[in-house]
Amino acid sequence: MAPIAAADIPSLGLLYKLKKLDKAQTTPHNDRIGLIRGDITTLAVDAIVNAANNSLLGGGGVDGAIHRAAGRGLVTECRTLKGCDTGSAKITDAYNLPCKKVIHTVGPVYDDLRPERSEAALRGCYRSSLELAVQHGLKTIAFSGISTGVYGYPSLDACQVACDTVKQFMDQNGKKLDKVIFVTFEAKDVRSYDSTLPLYFPPDTETSVDQEKAAEDQAAEAEATASKLPDVPTTDPADADPDHAQKKQKHDGES
Ligand code: APR
Repeated sequence: MAPIAAADIPSLGLLYKLKKLDKAQTTPHNDRIGLIRGDITTLAVDAIVNAANNSLLGGGGVDGAIHRAAGRGLVTECRTLKGCDTGSAKITDAYNLPCKKVIHTVGPVYDDLRPERSEAALRGCYRSSLELAVQHGLKTIAFSGISTGVYGYPSLDACQVACDTVKQFMDQNGKKLDKVIFVTFEAKDVRSYDSTLPLYFPPDTETSVDQEKAAEDQAAEAEATASKLPDVPTTDPADADPDHAQKKQKHDGES
């Protein structure tokens, strides 16, 4: 499959215009958040984010797909990194992949007895990956669904953590990144992002734009009508026509 350029990955702004996502209110990040369903190894972005394990030596799922597509050079470099803590991230070159760098982050194995610990670790994955991207001057970054596969993080919960962490980061550092892309793969994640993204990154409210436009049109119409009306008289018409007063008295007397 031919690599997909970052510019070709639809932004939320475009998806909203195409009515692919539901409505809500406005947020400044819509043109810098992307969403695509597919194989993350085909994205020709600055960085893709791998859902790795603590060894960083590869595995199944998206980790396996990235190592297969990158080739042996990736695991050779990963070996020099001596592993990675859960909730943290490390960066390598991309070798045969179309992207420039691979950020390896280790998500939590979901612990439903202590979900708050899992949430904190997952936030750490997104935040440390974004920080690494900014430190390395990378402008477009694509995230796989960290921990939502083998590690069992419920898709909707993970998606909310991902959206909230990315939104907070963009609120503070947004200008440093051109596009943060969420890559979905399985249907469960597509459903989660389609329903969650409009809550964190809603579109411009068309109604406010329409209302403004309607008000401008009304004002223009009123002005156009006003320009057709005769000037408002500045003197009493009677003064101009001396017989007017007698005619008026006679008319008033008859009515
Ligand atoms: N492109 C994009 N997303 C993918 C791809 C792909 N080619 N393959 C799988 N995914 C999605 C899955 O659908 C899931 O939503 O990536 C998400 C993460 O799933 P996993 O790869 O299972 O990762 P995770 O749940 O974080 O578990 C990590 O699994 O693969 C091993 O070595 C890895 O031990 C680590 C563990």
